[in-house]
Amino acid sequence: MQVLVYKDAETIARAAAAIFAGEITRKDGVVIGLATGSTPVPTYRELIRLNREGVIDFSKVISYNLDEYVGLQHDHPCSYRRFMNEQLFDHINIDKANTHVPDGIACNAAEYEQEIKDIGGVDLQLLGIGSDGHIGFNEPADEFVYPTNIVKLTDQTIDDNARFFNNRDEVPKTAISMGIGTIMSAKRIILIATGKNKARAIAAAINGPVAPAMPASILQMHQNVQFLLDEDAASEL
Ligand code: GLP
Repeated sequence: MQVLVYKDAETIARAAAAIFAGEITRKDGVVIGLATGSTPVPTYRELIRLNREGVIDFSKVISYNLDEYVGLQHDHPCSYRRFMNEQLFDHINIDKANTHVPDGIACNAAEYEQEIKDIGGVDLQLLGIGSDGHIGFNEPADEFVYPTNIVKLTDQTIDDNARFFNNRDEVPKTAISMGIGTIMSAKRIILIATGKNKARAIAAAINGPVAPAMPASILQMHQNVQFLLDEDAASEL
């Protein structure tokens, strides 16, 4: 595990985008794993810029997103499919047919898992982290759940994500998410985190015991993972 501390979110975005540029240039048909939330937005902005400048060609890139809310139609303003289209896919030369976001209506978890397996797994996975230490939507639990599955969101996550909805009651209570095993099978992982509200989870994930109560702690067992943090997120290390 490598822990890198940067001065701000923009610097993290440039570093993360450079890692993507390397992987995408290295391999035709590279499979990238993508994340939602506010944290990756500057990275996506940077990827869009590099695509416009001709540095990154997305025409052969295949993407799989971590998760989606259960019950939201693809075009719902808060769906992760819509988020990805608006924040990234609509602005780069990726073939939309090559972009995959779990289907929150069909909830075909086993099929999503199989598709990722069949394509040979994810080459580079981008992760954020929830303030309770969740990755994807894998919430603190008694046991790690390995394959893509349907998860019940914690009150903390519902509170955290309510800002994207009109009110808290509109936040779905369940989601479909790549499992801990799906994430761990990625060949390379970068986790990005910014802000004081991530500091506790980051410290526990990096220095605490590997335990399902802190889902991100499993990353200690991955052989090629980098944490890209700002000073606030790193402040409890
Ligand atoms: C959601 C997503 C996670 C993301 C988390 C943190 O719960 N399912 O993948 O890491 O939000 O979001 P933010 O970056 O907005 O803090």
